[in-house]
Amino acid sequence: MEPEEPSKSKTTVRQRADAIKPFICKNLIAVIESPSDVQNIGTVIRNVNALGVEKVYVVDPRKALPDDWEDMRGRKSLARTSVSAVKWSFVKRFDSTDDCFDHLEKNNFHSVVTSPHIKGQTNVWLHEGDFTEHTKLAVWFGNEKRGISDRAVERSNACIAIPMFGMIESLNLGTSSGIVLYEVTKQRRDYQSRYRKGRRKGKRSDPLPTVMTRDVV
Ligand SMILES: C[S@@+](CC[C@H](N)C(=O)[O-])C[C@H]1O[C@@H](n2cnc3c(N)ncnc32)[C@H](O)[C@@H]1O
Repeated sequence: MEPEEPSKSKTTVRQRADAIKPFICKNLIAVIESPSDVQNIGTVIRNVNALGVEKVYVVDPRKALPDDWEDMRGRKSLARTSVSAVKWSFVKRFDSTDDCFDHLEKNNFHSVVTSPHIKGQTNVWLHEGDFTEHTKLAVWFGNEKRGISDRAVERSNACIAIPMFGMIESLNLGTSSGIVLYEVTKQRRDYQSRYRKGRRKGKRSDPLPTVMTRDVV
């Protein structure tokens, strides 16, 4: 297990928080459906934070996580497995897949699930998908053993697969979320850099940078 990141001064933390803001992918949510292992939740939160995904939702029917975000941030197991990323990421839990979809649909989110298998009507290879088509996007990851549920497939719009070339059936949750979210955030950051949102909507004459300089502490 890696140690938590060393503590930094308040000014350094504030500078970093300001510097990363423009690179965060707005209206992008990663959903983990019924994960069994808290270590995997921590790994996904770490990926989400590192890649600039705005939020993480966890469908948690076993009630392994506290309801309150502050309590969640204080959870030692999550802080350790996410190397403190949980302190900096918005994490919300839901009791069921349907509760999570109800909330996402009420807020006009388009959902895609991920699986190594063919699921539902529309199946897309990760590298062939366009993840900028919908302003609000939720990307679902399934349980370590069972994979994504039939209910999630039924209520989502497409199923995304990372091509597999080996003898094994699937990648693990941490690895697959890293690969999928890398592609999705790369596309959305590129789009965000070229187009303005809201009332001043339209193409920017000078695209914003899509990569942060590495000298920001
Ligand atoms: C260990 S896998 C689950 C394996 C399970 N036997 C199944 O049928 O999906 C955990 C999750 O990682 C993601 N995943 C794993 N391999 C993937 C792949 N090749 N393409 C897309 N997602 C994948 C999916 O979200 C999956 O539900």
